[in-house]
Amino acid sequence: MKIAIIGLGFVGLSFAAVLGSKGYSVLGIDSDKKKISKIGSGKSLFYEPKLDETLKSALKKSLKVSSDIDLAVRQCDMVFVTVGTPESKEGYIDLTMMKQVVKEIGISLSKTNNKPVIVIKSTVVPRTTQDVVKPILEKNSRKKVGIGFGIAMNPEFLREGTAIYDTLNPHIVVIGSDDVVSANRVKKFYDELYKRKTQIIITNYQTAELIKYANNSFLATKISFINQIANICQSMPGTNIDDVAEVIGLDPRIGSLFLKAGPGYGGSCFPKDMKTMIAFSKKVGTDPVLLEAVQQTNTLQVNKIISLMKNMIGKFDGKKITILGLSFKEDSDDIRESVSIKLIRLLLRENAAITVHDPKAIENTKTIFKAKIRYSDSIRDALKDSQCAIIMTPWKQYKNLPNNDFQKMKRKFVIDTRRILKHENLAIKYNALGIG
Ligand code: UDX
Repeated sequence: MKIAIIGLGFVGLSFAAVLGSKGYSVLGIDSDKKKISKIGSGKSLFYEPKLDETLKSALKKSLKVSSDIDLAVRQCDMVFVTVGTPESKEGYIDLTMMKQVVKEIGISLSKTNNKPVIVIKSTVVPRTTQDVVKPILEKNSRKKVGIGFGIAMNPEFLREGTAIYDTLNPHIVVIGSDDVVSANRVKKFYDELYKRKTQIIITNYQTAELIKYANNSFLATKISFINQIANICQSMPGTNIDDVAEVIGLDPRIGSLFLKAGPGYGGSCFPKDMKTMIAFSKKVGTDPVLLEAVQQTNTLQVNKIISLMKNMIGKFDGKKITILGLSFKEDSDDIRESVSIKLIRLLLRENAAITVHDPKAIENTKTIFKAKIRYSDSIRDALKDSQCAIIMTPWKQYKNLPNNDFQKMKRKFVIDTRRILKHENLAIKYNALGIG
């Protein structure tokens, strides 16, 4: 079986690397020639644990990379589309890349007798496959779906930081299709890939599309919920959000995952998908009161950090403040919608002197703040002369910091937004989100 994956961003590259490393004949396609040449040399464009080694093994075995969509459509049994669907200017979903790629696939289909299934993996709002993808494919190929080619919608649930693990061990595979033959071809592929151990759900296009948004908005709801309870704990001496979360998580109706209170969710998915889901609900005539509250709770969470800081050090003017952790989560260099970046912006507005540390995300952060803040490779240097340190990302490097690292702080104030620092034996003034 020959597989093509068009769009070598986070999802596409992880998928291509995993399939190639398992010996599948894979063609990874991206229009960005520079990207293709870097990936061809075994290097991804972002940090993701295990990705580079998986990619190298895939390239040695059976992964080829190219910019030729024609080749993919002519030769492959399945063409996965994993292009980005970023936020549009109007706060909705931008389908420019999707439309362009699907049009090119359609034109290629018109020139071949091959009948691949075109599998939409990018996150798209319900009815996009039916109302946008299908007409473009049929018009440009001058063929009918189900006869000249197939279409399926197959949302992706992998997380950054564990992308390779998640691709190898998904909790579910969802296949949306309106023609049984295409759905079964995709199912057969996944059954073989996961040795029939992963549950596969077959549904229609729009349900598959909605499942992805419902999944992400439910997870975001869990996070905002626990953050709100954490804020209650904050005002109640003697309470600790982690104790509360642990026990409510034991109720099987609630479940223990995604109950870690913190500075709010960030990243390339939750904030964007929540916005889109809210706009989509309004479009279909449903008032998204709950989703809006989830989003608002998330937006306001950064203010909790600011007010804790003000309680500790007063005005920020000219004071040195250290931010530990810039990426939106650990094991990632991604700073998209990271609350750390939002916090730095707010602190700069109040003239704080900021020094930052992160094991992986410094280079990305430099593109935003340039010389407006200081960057440090060493945690100890980052803390030197600082009046307040804020742990923003739960990197393992921040869990067991020794007393020595804090010795040269001007005032030994530490705010731990994730409650990860083992602080009991440290000579610091410790404060954390969610501890009363
Ligand atoms: C998310 C979804 O989990 C994944 O299924 C989807 O495919 C893409 O979006 P990702 O954004 O990579 O994945 O990371 P995730 O682990 O979900 O974390 C998102 C944000 O929520 C991070 O900022 C994280 O720190 C925060 N978070 C997560 C919490 O604050 N508390 C939690 O309990 C879990």
